[in-house]
Amino acid sequence: MSAAAAEAIERYEPSGGTGGGGGDGVITYVSYGGEHHLPLVMSLVDEELSEPYSIFTYRYFVYLWPQLTFLAFDPKDGKCVGTVVCKMGEHRGAFRGYIAMLVVLKPYRGRGIATELVTRSIRVMMESGCEEVTLEAEVTNKSALALYGRLGFIRAKRLYRYYLNGVDAFRLKLLFPRLDPALHPMMPGNERDDQHMDSPYL
Ligand SMILES: CC(C)(COP(=O)(O)OP(=O)(O)OC[C@H]1O[C@@H](n2cnc3c(N)ncnc32)[C@H](O)[C@@H]1OP(=O)(O)O)[C@@H](O)C(=O)NCCC(=O)NCCS
Repeated sequence: MSAAAAEAIERYEPSGGTGGGGGDGVITYVSYGGEHHLPLVMSLVDEELSEPYSIFTYRYFVYLWPQLTFLAFDPKDGKCVGTVVCKMGEHRGAFRGYIAMLVVLKPYRGRGIATELVTRSIRVMMESGCEEVTLEAEVTNKSALALYGRLGFIRAKRLYRYYLNGVDAFRLKLLFPRLDPALHPMMPGNERDDQHMDSPYL
């Protein structure tokens, strides 16, 4: 993980379940809590992403990996303003996390909300033993590519006409550092020392 990515995460780091307000008010973050959250996730994604998803797709993700879906709320009016939907599992011999959907409502963008949502999912993936995280983003999606770039994702592949709208995609990949129990302070038996951690997700 680059020092820049670590710094970026630190800058957005809220305390507890709130944060990422960018000075315009605090945002509350919750993990998927059941059926009442499903319409909120669906309407945000349907509104902002180019790919159409059926309710079966949403259910596949939130029923199997509820701990990897997060929602952001504006406590002022209780409005759901952002969401991230992910999964994880074995893929070609590696245990891999996958970010399927990420959306923040336009008036709430540029305040670190997406960064906070993604970071929360990635932390759970890492704690669950994932070795890497992947996703696809349209090659024209500058804000998404900038966001994931800042978080340490690299462009692993270009996928020709990947989306239904004919646009190419970049496959982005984040590799977690392999932990050596003899060396790493976070492993059982070793003393925790935040100064020596090189990953912002730990
Ligand atoms: C991509 C998307 C999710 C980003 O959401 P966001 O909440 O605006 O993202 P962040 O605020 O975390 O980061 C975006 C910018 O805000 C800046 N920012 C973050 N926190 C900030 C803060 N506290 N104060 C000021 N600026 C901040 C970041 O530096 C970043 O700037 P940059 O993109 O110019 O480098 C959003 O634009 C979106 O929903 N787009 C449509 C759907 C989409 O494309 N999803 C991704 C599919 S792969």
